[in-house]
Amino acid sequence: MNVSEAVANRRSIRSFSSQPVDDNVIKRVLDKASRSPSGGNVQPWRFYVLNNDAMERFKQTAEAALTSGKPQNIEYSIYPPKLQEPYRSSRFKCGEDMYKLLEIEREDKPARLNWLSNNYRFFGAPAGLFCFIDRGMGAPQWSDLGMILQTIMLLFQEEGIDTCAQEAWSQMASTVHEFVEPPENLMLFCGMAIGYRDQAAAVNGLVTDRAPLEDWATFLS
Ligand SMILES: Cc1cc2nc3c(=O)[nH]c(=O)nc-3n(C[C@H](O)[C@H](O)[C@H](O)COP(=O)(O)O)c2cc1C
Repeated sequence: MNVSEAVANRRSIRSFSSQPVDDNVIKRVLDKASRSPSGGNVQPWRFYVLNNDAMERFKQTAEAALTSGKPQNIEYSIYPPKLQEPYRSSRFKCGEDMYKLLEIEREDKPARLNWLSNNYRFFGAPAGLFCFIDRGMGAPQWSDLGMILQTIMLLFQEEGIDTCAQEAWSQMASTVHEFVEPPENLMLFCGMAIGYRDQAAAVNGLVTDRAPLEDWATFLS
């Protein structure tokens, strides 16, 4: 698989089969992904991997937290309070396309909320990771996280393994912090579900739109 194929094949997968992912594969991918660039080569990312027993225990912890409804520390607001156009419509369309595949109507808020809670089950993935960053880091270092996260997702593609990046975990940060026990200065950016897609799940058929090149790239004359 070449880079273009990995980029084209990667999609966010939101329903996984129970087929396990070998720890050695995850190690290999993270090791290779460490070649990702970062400003000044500061490599500001810190990862915690969940697989096998640790994942089992974590899923039980997360489920208990979900059902308890205990208030959570929210690390950051995922979107600006007033998401402007055209970004707002793009976000809306992606959600609507997903719920169409799931056959959940717009009015059925409980069903939509219920579906969203699958984020906190890693969408059934057998493995996952959490990506943290030092609280003292700024926007440039946060952008470095994107570098390595996409590299990780593409390398998993090469291994035939699917992923879904998950900012949703930032809204359940207390549970993640209690379980992971990272150094105090770290804050959670996102999680990532890792596994093999459930071929039969309609939601995995979602192919999101992209704005045409001329909307976001300007060639100066
Ligand atoms: C940093 C990041 C965080 C994301 N968080 C979530 C999430 O919490 N839940 C979710 O279902 N999808 C999440 N996504 C997936 C996006 O919705 C998805 O990338 C986007 O709609 C484009 O679709 P594609 O990944 O299938 O190309 C996230 C993606 C990124 C890059």
